[in-house]
Amino acid sequence: GNRPLIDPLGRTITYLRVSVTDRCDLRCAYCMPQAMTFLPKAELLTLEELDTLIHAFMRRGVRKIRLTGGEPLVRRGIETLIERLGAEVKAGNLDELTLTTNGTQLATHAETLAKAGVKRINVSLDTLDPDTFARLTRRAVLSDVIAGLDAAQAAGLSIKINTVALSDYNAHEIPALIEWAHGRGMDLTLIETMPMGEIDGDRMDQYLPLSEVRSQLEAKWRLTPIPHRTGGPARYVRVEETGGRLGFITPLTHNFCDGCNRVRLTCTGRLYMCLGQDDAADFRALMRAGIDAAGLDAAIDEAIGRKPKGHDFHIDATHRDSAVARQMSVTGG
Ligand code: GTP
Ligand code: 5AD
Ligand code: SF4
Repeated sequence: GNRPLIDPLGRTITYLRVSVTDRCDLRCAYCMPQAMTFLPKAELLTLEELDTLIHAFMRRGVRKIRLTGGEPLVRRGIETLIERLGAEVKAGNLDELTLTTNGTQLATHAETLAKAGVKRINVSLDTLDPDTFARLTRRAVLSDVIAGLDAAQAAGLSIKINTVALSDYNAHEIPALIEWAHGRGMDLTLIETMPMGEIDGDRMDQYLPLSEVRSQLEAKWRLTPIPHRTGGPARYVRVEETGGRLGFITPLTHNFCDGCNRVRLTCTGRLYMCLGQDDAADFRALMRAGIDAAGLDAAIDEAIGRKPKGHDFHIDATHRDSAVARQMSVTGG
């Protein structure tokens, strides 16, 4: 049927985030251990399976798709999926197709993305200093990311930079990053590091509450709250001095789950009703057991019926362990 997806708390789900691979060409210190191992290929949904599932959600009112990872652009054949979904945007069956990328391969793909119907993308970038970048991501490829941003802007894509605020890497650099992004006509969103999966070292040493960052920025600039752009968790302000838009994603210091409009499909076909909870529904098993469209529909209803009120993240002296065991790269942020 074409009934909309409404969860038990009355929230309508119109946004599906899809992780297309757990692989990544970087090893950001807050995301993965240096020695991260990746899933065998047979565990991943094929691009055909992904397409089938995405369409099942579209029939139920999903209007926005974001491809994530891992790094979505390292998935072999991803351009085919992007072109197929882009055609749905052009046909009016989707409002938006977008992706969240680390930018390293963007120079190669920017033109294809724009032609396929992608209008805006989110690019993760936590520092503009080549040495800090190499220390944080364990790969010395900042210049590839900058070339990717150049290519994306030349192709006409709007860009939002995602910056995870980290006390031991970029705390001092945040105003400069904002000025740089705004100077290039890009939005920037600051993100609090979330306790997901094991990393090398202690997340407490990295955690920087955005309430602190915001106070520092307010001493320097005038921040005017502006209306909510995408129904997502970010709260936006305009920086009057730069004229640019700045977002804050603050799962730890300010909870935003009341307005949640999204669910997440992992690269192995598990549907997570919340980023910060462990409960999931296994769609790969259903697909590989030969389920039909009506069965998929029923399984989607059953899953949405279990969407929890909100996440369970916390970082403090008594909660040093991960709130959820899986890596952000599996669920796709
Ligand atoms: P829009 O689609 O424009 O709203 O962008 P977005 O900010 O939701 O997307 P993006 O992929 O850039 O997300 C940035 C980061 O925000 C993610 O990697 C997550 O860390 C965080 N985030 C996004 N959605 C949620 C959510 O529902 N809950 C939590 N806790 N964090 C989220
Ligand atoms: N906490 C917050 N953000 C994270 N990301 C990856 N791991 C974490 C984490 N533990 C971010 C990346 C990127 C997005 C996909 O997720 O920096 O912006
Ligand atoms: Fe890769 Fe993104 Fe994780 Fe960094 S945060 S290692 S770019 S998936």
